Amino acid sequence: MSANPSGHPETFEMEQQNFSPGWIEIDLRQYRRNLEAIWSAKEPATGIAIVVKDDAYGHGAVELGRIASERGAEFLVVASLAEAEKLQAARLSSKILILGERHPEEISPCVQAGFSFTSGSMESLREIESRARALGQKARVHLKIDSGMSRYGVRWSEAAAIASELKQLPSIIPEGILSHFAMSDELDKSFALLQLSRFEEALANLRQNGIEPKHIHICNSGGLLDLPQAHCNLVRVGILGLGVYPSKVCRRLDGIAPIMSVKARISAIKKLEPGDCVGYGMRFTAPKPMRIATLGIGYGWGYPRVRNKGAVLVGGQRCPIIGGVSMDAITVDITDVPTAKTWDEVVLLGTQASQEITIHEIAELKGSVSYDAMVSWRDRLPRVYRQ
Ligand SMILES: Cc1ncc(COP(=O)(O)O)c(C=O)c1O
Repeated sequence: MSANPSGHPETFEMEQQNFSPGWIEIDLRQYRRNLEAIWSAKEPATGIAIVVKDDAYGHGAVELGRIASERGAEFLVVASLAEAEKLQAARLSSKILILGERHPEEISPCVQAGFSFTSGSMESLREIESRARALGQKARVHLKIDSGMSRYGVRWSEAAAIASELKQLPSIIPEGILSHFAMSDELDKSFALLQLSRFEEALANLRQNGIEPKHIHICNSGGLLDLPQAHCNLVRVGILGLGVYPSKVCRRLDGIAPIMSVKARISAIKKLEPGDCVGYGMRFTAPKPMRIATLGIGYGWGYPRVRNKGAVLVGGQRCPIIGGVSMDAITVDITDVPTAKTWDEVVLLGTQASQEITIHEIAELKGSVSYDAMVSWRDRLPRVYRQ
């Protein structure tokens, strides 16, 4: 194991990490296996853009970006200029693509740094043209088409008008055209297929105007898995690289497994008499003599703030959480694990012996989706990378 080289604020060497009440482990070997599975799920000529926004969904953008870029990722994809600059400082070989819309004041830094970035309106394209021209440089733009998600992009039906305008903007290199699926990972693909046909219509309009973008992309992980006809010549993959499927129903690939575990240690063990209460608000009362363990992490570390819900793995067994999760404490019933002792390792996310707690389980406790659960872990948890 080695410490995170990216300067993650709470990262320590392994020896020090051992004393933290909790930590995150990222399995880089499994990450490489996941990338192999992803690479084999597409035609050889199709490029891969690896989405590493929000610090690679909480896994470490530089650490994963380095491996993805060594594997041949065409782009590393982020959501802000700051994220792009952090990746650029790591000097990785993949190009960097920034999603969303850039504030006018961010355009010159993007152009000067050579970042590719998305734009989805005539207004923003004109702003990019004027800023790039003032610099005497070219802007690498991926034109975002709104094919039905209604967040960003030029409405597909207006692509022809944009295309004829784009020809008048010589400081813009129309490097790519993209859209984004709203429901690629569900069983009913009818809306995804409608989005694809709208996207193809917009692309045809660009081509009729003599614009041939090098990179054509609409697929996320769900699209990579279930919509091979939509791969175009580039796919953008985020969650699948982390070993997590975007939904229960999408196609499974051999070799994919989660790379993130969250662990803690037992900080204290207590015996309860029948009638004893546990935690704030006295939400748990012992019905019988019990043995409980207290972990030194809680919602202040990113665990969902649940009461008498959820479980952790101790000694290879699922142990229920009792009482309410506090900022810095989680109490767990270990009556059935008599061998458990203080400073034993506990798994909050991941596997121990034959048991597993998935990110979907944590997401359910949060009343949310796995993407949200993954990015909710706080920087207080040191991140340790297994090579
Ligand atoms: C525009 C865009 N493309 C691709 C992705 C990656 O999606 P996934 O993590 O489902 O592969 C995202 C993620 O939110 C996104 O916003």
